[in-house]
Amino acid sequence: MKFKRSDFPQDFIFGTATSSYQIEGHSFGGAGPTHWDTFAAKPGKILDGTDGAIACDHYNRWQEDLDLIKDAGFDSYRFSTSWARVMPEGRGAVNQEGLDFYERLVDGMLARGIKPMATLYHWEMPAALDALGGWQNADVADWFAEFTDVIAKRLGDRLFSTATINEPWCVSWLSHFEGHHAPGLQDIKATARAMHHVLKAHGKSVQVLRQNGVKDVGIVCNFEGTMPADDSVESARAAARYEAIYNRFFLQGIFEGTYPEEVLEGLGPHLPAGWKDDMALIQQPLEWVGVNYYTAKAFRETDGPWPSCETVRTGADTTHMNWEIHPDHLTKLLKWIADTYTKDLPLYVTENGMAGEHTLNDQDRVSYLNGHVLAAKSAMDAGVPLGGYTFWSLMDNYEWAFGYAERFGLVHVDFDTLERTPKVSYLALRDAMSQ
Ligand code: FCB
Repeated sequence: MKFKRSDFPQDFIFGTATSSYQIEGHSFGGAGPTHWDTFAAKPGKILDGTDGAIACDHYNRWQEDLDLIKDAGFDSYRFSTSWARVMPEGRGAVNQEGLDFYERLVDGMLARGIKPMATLYHWEMPAALDALGGWQNADVADWFAEFTDVIAKRLGDRLFSTATINEPWCVSWLSHFEGHHAPGLQDIKATARAMHHVLKAHGKSVQVLRQNGVKDVGIVCNFEGTMPADDSVESARAAARYEAIYNRFFLQGIFEGTYPEEVLEGLGPHLPAGWKDDMALIQQPLEWVGVNYYTAKAFRETDGPWPSCETVRTGADTTHMNWEIHPDHLTKLLKWIADTYTKDLPLYVTENGMAGEHTLNDQDRVSYLNGHVLAAKSAMDAGVPLGGYTFWSLMDNYEWAFGYAERFGLVHVDFDTLERTPKVSYLALRDAMSQ
């Protein structure tokens, strides 16, 4: 690696991340069905037709996985708690076995000196709640508050930090407008409602965490670098519209209590009645914000329906997912987020990584991570209060609509034997973090 631990402040936190459905094996331990299971069962939705029934079998191999985290020298582990594992129907009865699992996991981290960074929701809505409309139903805020309360009471005293939701844009836009993720809708009204309700659920969840004395509460949002494809006014407009939907909507809601005009142009008529009354709830103060970053895109305007924009390739190198590699946009985004919204609040890179060649000698990943960590360091040198950097992902896992076909892991997983083998990137990070 071209960086080492001593290049960073002493309390800077290097971590790695996973999420529950992607690694645990959802068929184990009495977990209830999720909307992802419903979605994955539909023909053509998942590239290789798979689901997370077994995944990495982390539910049974968690000790070995925590040892891998410790042996690499990571300070923190960002994991998530599956709602349907803890509350199989989404409300009411608690599956004690599921809750016990997360308690063992958190205690296992603490015993190894690893800071537990929890995320309450990383995309597995209990199927019973999805049947009631899921993120489209305004009651989702109360349902999520009930789940939050269960987790807060059992684990809240031992968590280093707690995020309510992972990537509100994916929960709402990607899943209800583009239809690429569960529940797989392409419906503008459903999108508008989901975008607002995900923030309302976040706000209620923050309140419940506070009532339970949980400290260091934040949210994890995803960001993409955006640029106009050319010098035209039209392309500038298209890029601005996309940026408003992707990068601004959620932070502006939380930090300013308003939504960007560019988004209201399209979604305004479809937002739930009385949405403005929820903005005070959405504006709960936070202790930190998590930034997930993978790529940047160029845009031009189209004649099609709102948001009337499409991506244009810039010619930059791409990852195995075909995502363009633009580390410089991470520097720009971190500065912009801090200047515009979060000011002195600590930011954490909560996900960054790449899908690469299926090999143990993953030099492509080493170079991607190098570029992005140095880009984050540049933002810090320019004054951004960045508290840590989290690599996605500890190990190859269930990459949502790509099934097991795309591998983001620092550790290779053989999905036949479930054997774990550290890749060159894992060893390189271990060296960098020991210096
Ligand atoms: C992020 C998700 C994470 C993983 C990476 C590649 O959007 O939060 O679960 O799929 O992308």
